[in-house]
Amino acid sequence: MTRYRPYYVTLHWLSAVLVFLAFFIGLASLANTPNDDAKLLPLGVHIVLGVLILFLTMARIVVRSLMGKPVYRIEHPASTGRKKIPLLDLLSRYVQPLLYLFTFLMAVVGIAIALPTDLFSIFFAGSEKSLPVDFYIYPARAWHGTLSLLLMLLIGQHILAFVYHQFLRGENFIARMWFQRGKQQERTIPGKIFHEENKSAP
Ligand code: HEM
Repeated sequence: MTRYRPYYVTLHWLSAVLVFLAFFIGLASLANTPNDDAKLLPLGVHIVLGVLILFLTMARIVVRSLMGKPVYRIEHPASTGRKKIPLLDLLSRYVQPLLYLFTFLMAVVGIAIALPTDLFSIFFAGSEKSLPVDFYIYPARAWHGTLSLLLMLLIGQHILAFVYHQFLRGENFIARMWFQRGKQQERTIPGKIFHEENKSAP
């Protein structure tokens, strides 16, 4: 079985939890909510999460480009006994890089809302300024909402592909993105990682 390296697995799951929390707070406590004092706490937490997500996403892009990546299942469809690549797997080729891009853009556009509204000074420099009456007077707010819908669709495809491989094809897909028990020898070539038991793979 081929899998991602432990530090990348850590970055992946940490990002997943933080993105889930940022979405949850954004949808449950920020969208369609008046900009009064009760909004300060969820908005402050949302901003901290969003900035952490931005750094994590940049770290993931760098780590991913430096490390070898595990053999991707659909690059060798014949080895699974099927010639035709399922649509979900075809989509994954494009969805995976788009997940990085849209997560990155989401955080950058969030910062584009925060800068003209002085949110960083309000939350982290003790500014007495109050929140704007409505964030929608700034174009970046509409972009943040639109991107959040697109990011949700991408995450939905990502989860569906996991469910398909894990439960319908019975491939223990999650093992690729989880920690390995005990030490297992790995063989790495540029751009790829193979475990010893997978030596026959190209
Ligand atoms: C990947 C990271 C982020 C995610 C997933 C995310 C998610 C969301 C979501 C789902 C909403 C509600 C959108 C809607 O329903 O229209 C929202 C609103 C908002 N987010 Fe983010 N966000 C992220 C990063 C950031 C960052 C970095 C900032 C600021 C530094 C930020 C500031 C805001 C603000 C100001 C709002 C609008 C609140 C309002 O209209 O009352 N977000 N975010």
